[in-house]
Amino acid sequence: EDESPLRVSVIGTGYLGATHAAAVAEMGFTVIGVDTDPAKIAALEEGEVPFYEPGLPELIRKNIAAGRLSFTTDLGAAVAASDIHFICVGTPQQASSHAADLSFVEGATRAVAAALTHDGLIVGKSTVPVGTAQRLRDMVDAMVPTSLHVELDWNPEFLREGYAVEDTLRPDRIVIGGASPWAEGMLRRLYGPAIEAGAPVVTCDLPTAELVKVSANAFLATKISFINAIAEVCEKAGADVTTLADAIGYDARIGRRFLNAGLGFGGGCLPKDIRALTHRAGELGALQAVGLMQQVDEINMGQRQRVVELAMSTCPVNILNARVAVLGVAFKPDTDDVRDSPALNVAAALHLRGALVSVYDPEANATAKRSFPTLTYAASMEAAVTGADLVLVLTEWPEIAGADPEVLGRLVAHRAIVDARRCLPAQAWRDAGWHTATLGSAETE
Ligand code: UGA
Repeated sequence: EDESPLRVSVIGTGYLGATHAAAVAEMGFTVIGVDTDPAKIAALEEGEVPFYEPGLPELIRKNIAAGRLSFTTDLGAAVAASDIHFICVGTPQQASSHAADLSFVEGATRAVAAALTHDGLIVGKSTVPVGTAQRLRDMVDAMVPTSLHVELDWNPEFLREGYAVEDTLRPDRIVIGGASPWAEGMLRRLYGPAIEAGAPVVTCDLPTAELVKVSANAFLATKISFINAIAEVCEKAGADVTTLADAIGYDARIGRRFLNAGLGFGGGCLPKDIRALTHRAGELGALQAVGLMQQVDEINMGQRQRVVELAMSTCPVNILNARVAVLGVAFKPDTDDVRDSPALNVAAALHLRGALVSVYDPEANATAKRSFPTLTYAASMEAAVTGADLVLVLTEWPEIAGADPEVLGRLVAHRAIVDARRCLPAQAWRDAGWHTATLGSAETE
């Protein structure tokens, strides 16, 4: 078996690609990141990342300095210099339907296949509807001369924003779909450090690998919508959903994670993936999955509306011209991402109802301002709440969850707060004279 060091190209240097490129370089391989956007490449060459991801800029700089990592817009040169080509481009939701837009994945795969000059592996990492990989494989097989040994496989990625580096270096599992023994051997060499550290390897066919990815996200989304549905029952029955989640979570078959009730899920993955799965399952005639995923989506979107209504009923003055402070606007803590952010949605809805919304987020003010410039953005939590009639906690950053009710209480016009993430110590806030409201328990006082 050939043990010469593997050389890797990573096509697409967004969230997934930039992290994957840096992690593979960190594992000791030579990696070239490729993107069509020259500005992105120029920034990455300086170790600058256009999003907030703890540890990633440092990892990129370290591996550039070590000579293992470089970036280019020249796809042909990168492909000519590599043995494994990872496809890491986006699959956004199409504007016209819930189907995934596959034009970037198809374009990147076609470009790699056209540039191939020697044997190699094309490995898809992007999240795609089941059936895509086989089509891409057929396309590659038709393009590449039979004198070359080229294989297209699928190897989905499960990284979380905010923990991207950790998740990529120490994955829970490695899924390798469609690989021949030759290709599997190469990928096992590549992921050697993670496999030695205990990551299980699941080998399967192409459609299973594609579906593992979306099913994992669909299950997480289902857990969240499940607990939000139970939260509604808790409210009406006078029960407490957090205690309930703790108690059911001790059952190892259930597990406590992803059972935090509240404003629901957002971001670039969970909402898009369940909608793409709904669409694809519909095409395939798998109607149970369609119904289940639609329900999960509906419950989730309903949470935003419920928080808007709770804010209006909790607001001590008329919502028209009320001063509303929004604490947290990222779709979750530890990121500056506001794609499909439930928090930004709620802030926008209250703005449309005439509230004067002042937003503070530890990292996402700038990204939120780009997508919603008409809100006011405050440089600190204190600035955001000064003079507020109502405070909304919409993303559970530690800084926000740990805010001092006395300190903020002296700044606001009215001590009224909606904790849409159930992250505040409610009793301490009530003791400080605040009227608190939350979804998932009857503790509105
Ligand atoms: C998600 C998955 O967790 C990753 O495994 C996957 O690789 C990634 O999508 C992807 O497909 O690329 P991410 O979008 O970074 O990762 O976000 P999560 O940490 O999953 O959170 C998603 C949303 O669920 C957030 O809005 C969060 O606030 C919400 N959430 C999470 C809840 O409302 N309750 C919970 O208990 C947990």
